[in-house]
Formats: sequence, structure tokens, C-alpha cells
Amino acid sequence: MDVKKSKATVALMMMFMMLFLVNFPGCFSAASQQPNNKKSTHLKPHNGFHSSFLFPVTGNVYPLGYYSISLSIGNPPKVFEFDIDTGSDLTWVQCDAPCTGCTKPIDHLYKPQKHILVSCEHPSCGVVHFPESPHCEKPDDQCDFEIDYVDHGSVLGVVVADVFSLRFMNGSLIHLPLTFGCAYDLKNPGPYDPPAAGVLGLSNGKASILSQLRSFDLTRNVLGHCLSGKGGGFLFLGDDLVPSGMSWMPVSANSKHYLSSPAEVFFDGKPTGIKDLKVVFDSGSSYTYFGFQVYEGVLTLVSKRVGVFPLRVIFKLFLRN
Ligand SMILES: *[C@@H]1O[C@H](CO)[C@@H](O)[C@H](O)[C@H]1NC(C)=O
Repeated sequence: MDVKKSKATVALMMMFMMLFLVNFPGCFSAASQQPNNKKSTHLKPHNGFHSSFLFPVTGNVYPLGYYSISLSIGNPPKVFEFDIDTGSDLTWVQCDAPCTGCTKPIDHLYKPQKHILVSCEHPSCGVVHFPESPHCEKPDDQCDFEIDYVDHGSVLGVVVADVFSLRFMNGSLIHLPLTFGCAYDLKNPGPYDPPAAGVLGLSNGKASILSQLRSFDLTRNVLGHCLSGKGGGFLFLGDDLVPSGMSWMPVSANSKHYLSSPAEVFFDGKPTGIKDLKVVFDSGSSYTYFGFQVYEGVLTLVSKRVGVFPLRVIFKLFLRN
């Protein structure tokens, strides 16, 4: 089901990112289309920044393992903290519907009103469930969603549409109706509660916040984040802040995930034959790993090498195109 997020696949990407970071400290940005000309990333066609949103990011890799931003929802607006996640598409927030398993106190939960429920036959419900279809018995049934995580955590809820208050980089505030999940049944198998009240879905899928902003023709389909090793950073939606001198890599258009073009593992400067790897970029994954076969292959190489230089093992991934 589309809203399910496979941590197993997605976490593969972080290793790629960490190796990548050697060249691009802490920054990732993705666009649905390749710029034709690298110089176009310097373009500032309008007077000042006007069609991007910039959010300060809090959190760190260790000890927290999360990065999050704050967003205001509803009228009057209420602020919630969201785990930023380029590996999933549906945004959700802990919701007093009432809730089982929510980790935030009741007055810090999102309180849904009846009129914001998305009906099962509404196109937004179809988008959330794509490529499957929502199971509607009656047209005015509510639109349910479920997200299962590979770590056996899960989130159940109902799809709603409510106003988000977002500030453009030029300072103007905009109130936009966005579709997201009101999560009222949470299971978290981990020993610690996640610090945020919800997850901000930033993947390539149509249900993601980025795609929704794009559909209002407000921002271009570009997102980027810079995360500091010391904690904190920023996230932007829109193309005003793309740093110059970026190296661009095609991202698979058919995938909801930001999937790299096929890569090969290089070890000690040499190709290893471990290739055609597709790597997912997922800011919502706390750690990075290879799939089993690749892991085994890399481990064998490392073990052989460790006999010679015990402490200095370096391997790199290179793109083949
Ligand atoms: C800021 O940008 C938005 C979106 O392009 C525009 O609608 C708004 O008028 C701008 N505000 C100012 C103060 O320029």
C-alpha cells in the first residue's frame, strides 16, 4: 500500500549520503527535473526570494536520531513539530480523535473538526491510496490510512484537509488547505518515544506536501536540506535557495522515493563489481545500511583488507553515468 513506508529499502540510501557528504557537507536537494543547464541554478529571476519556504530544522544524528521542523495547522493555528521524512509521502500528526498510543499530552494533539474530514470518494483519498484504491462502502465514508513500518511500528488514522500557515521567504504569510493524516492509533515498538508530534512527508509521491504545494503552483518541485553534524540545519521547499556548484544526479521519475540512478561500489579506488545499486535518500531514517547481499560483499572486501591496514578502510560509491 502506497502510504506504507519501507524502512528496509529506504535506509539503504543513508550510507550513500554519508559517503556523498565527503563532497557535499550536509546538503541534499532534489528536483523532479534535471536542470538543463547547471547555470540555471544560479537564476534569480525575480526581485528577491518569493516562491520558496524556508524552515529552521532542529535535532541531531546523535543522541536524538531525529530532525524536525515546526508547522502551524488549523484556525486558530496550533504549532506541531514534524519529523522531516523524504522517504514517505503522507504527512500525519498525532490527533485527539481520541487517540490510542499518542505520545504527546492531550492538549498538544491536533483536534479534528468534522468538516475537515476527507470523504472516501474524494480525489485526495485516491491520491493517498494510490496505486491502490480506497475501500469505500459508502461515498461519504471517511478516508482511512495506515502506515506500517518495518520496525513493526504502525500508524492508523483518517485523512483530513485543514489550513497550514506557511511563510514565504519574502515574509508573506499564506494559509493553504493541505491534505494530511489525523493519526489516532500509534504503535511504537522502540524503547523511546519519537520527539515529534508527527511526520512531514516530503517524498516524490502525489500525497506529499511538496507535490501539494506544486499543485497550487506556488513553488517549483524542488526541496533541499542542510543538516549540520553538530545538530540543527534548514529545510527549503522551492528553488530559490539551491546552492551554486551543485552536482546533479538523475532521480527516478517512476518512484515515490528519491531513488538514485544505478551506482557501483568502489573499494580502495577500484570497482568491485557490486553494481546496479539503487539508493534511496531518506531523511526519516536514523541510520544507513546496505541490503543483505551488498552488505555481505562489502564485508568480505573489508575483512580481506583489514588484515593489511587494520584501521583505515575507505570505500566509496560512484555513479556510473
Ligand atoms: C511574496 O511571494 C508571494 C508568492 O510569490 C506573493 O504572492 C506575495 O505577494 C509576495 N509578497 C511580497 C511582500 O512581495
